[in-house]
Amino acid sequence: MNEKQRLENTLADSSDKKSEKDYSKYFQAVYMPPSLKDAKKRGKEDVKYESDFSIPEEFKNMGDGKKFYIRTYGCQMNEHDTEVMAGIFLALGYEPADGVEDANVILLNTCAIRENAENKVFGEIGHLKPLKLEKPDLLVGVCGCMSQEESVVNKIMQKHAHIDMIFGTHNIHRLPQILNEAYLSKEMVVEVWSKEGDVIENLPRARKGGTKGWVNIMYGCDKFCTYCIVPYTRGKERSRRPEEIIHEVRGLAAQGYKEITLLGQNVNAYGKDFADLTYGLGDLMDELRKINIPRIRFTTSHPRDFDDRLIEVLAKGGNLLDHIHLPVQSGSSEVLKMMARKYDRERYLELVGKIKAAIPNATLTTDIIVGFPNETDEQFEETLSLYREVEYDSAYTFIYSPREGTPAAKMQDNVPMEVKKERLQRLNSLVNEISAKKMKEYEGRVVEVLVEGESKNNPDVLAGYTEKSKLVNFQGPKSAIGQIVKVKILKAKTWTLNGEMAEEAIEVN
Ligand code: SAH
Ligand code: SF4
Ligand code: F3S
Repeated sequence: MNEKQRLENTLADSSDKKSEKDYSKYFQAVYMPPSLKDAKKRGKEDVKYESDFSIPEEFKNMGDGKKFYIRTYGCQMNEHDTEVMAGIFLALGYEPADGVEDANVILLNTCAIRENAENKVFGEIGHLKPLKLEKPDLLVGVCGCMSQEESVVNKIMQKHAHIDMIFGTHNIHRLPQILNEAYLSKEMVVEVWSKEGDVIENLPRARKGGTKGWVNIMYGCDKFCTYCIVPYTRGKERSRRPEEIIHEVRGLAAQGYKEITLLGQNVNAYGKDFADLTYGLGDLMDELRKINIPRIRFTTSHPRDFDDRLIEVLAKGGNLLDHIHLPVQSGSSEVLKMMARKYDRERYLELVGKIKAAIPNATLTTDIIVGFPNETDEQFEETLSLYREVEYDSAYTFIYSPREGTPAAKMQDNVPMEVKKERLQRLNSLVNEISAKKMKEYEGRVVEVLVEGESKNNPDVLAGYTEKSKLVNFQGPKSAIGQIVKVKILKAKTWTLNGEMAEEAIEVN
């Protein structure tokens, strides 16, 4: 049987109705499926730190003459995981492909946060089937947060047998072994650890561009907000050691990076897991601000753990940016309780008050979920009133999406979808109204812009971001790309600013 016949057989097989239990016998190679139940456990064992990641000698030429392509869905954490996987591919000798058509290995780095995120991935899995039939030697893999869900893994095994590998968020460093297994095996390779998580250091990272870099400071989440899948897909909160982070940021500064974003699902819990050290995000930022890099930001903050030490350090300014993303989710204390956010409206507003008092120019943005199970009109109105009171610059807004395995998914919900959609629309018009007002205030002002490149719509125009993450389009010389320049804002739109360059590159520090 040739490769193509084998594949067609497998694909034909896949439409058979088999019970989930039967399935494991078809996977004799690596078959380690996920378990959301195991992923929920939070034990007392210490986090395992592995500092010696390296590519095994026997795999070093695995990618010679081959190309990889990674499609990324979801948050910055996933974007950065893609950079790590790209780094591993390069170390294995692969080259980047321009698209799926010229790739020998395709990975879908997936997101499980809402149902429509998952639907997009299943759409793409379907689209890749003809390509796989045409090129049986092509390897197609699914990784990221969706791989941590057993329902997803079962569905792929039953309906999408053209997928060669499924591996989880804790298995990224095992990419060389997983690829090797997939080349050798005729079966789908499934390797998903549902553990609490380790910290692996010395991973290669192929960052895109040379100006803005993401740096993980911690992994996982222990908050277990009742609607959220992340604590199950990303394991327990575990922090990287400060010296590792400082070393990485120093290295990026030396390479000429202009902006660093510190990453974690809940960065304000940084350091809480250290048994031998009393050290938090404030302490880390206080060290990082001394590094010669123009901009340092962090995401995402959880209001519950945002402490006075951090506010005090952020108030020192310098390269610590005063744009704070502070997801509130709802303006109603009752809904916040149902969400298990562990703060109420009053405490959130108190925190906002403290931040604004200490950092007068602070810009706040947020995330909001509408239509949480049984949210009443009055409770939704409280979200609108809180939004007005805080006057956020902008917000990511979502309709609640039930995630299997989370407590909220089991709640009865009496809010019709129509009502949820209407609430989202009302919220979005408020978000737009306040954003437009805030943007208008920029007209006539001079802002500092880190220039990323040509504008998407017009190559004669340059585009970049201000310290407060506003997108600015302006006329300027190509030599400004990769630099921080001063731009005078001439016209504000709801989401972008238009201007002209006021001054060449700014020397920082
Ligand atoms: N760790 C961050 C959020 C990460 S997820 C925090 O706690 O702030 C990004 C956003 O997706 C969340 O802030 C929330 O607004 C939204 N979200 C998460 N789960 C969701 C769900 N089940 N339905 C709709 N939106 C959700
Ligand atoms: Fe999800 Fe809550 Fe953790 Fe954010 S803090 S990742 S919303 S559980
Ligand atoms: Fe999505 Fe996972 Fe990030 S669920 S939002 S990719 S942590």
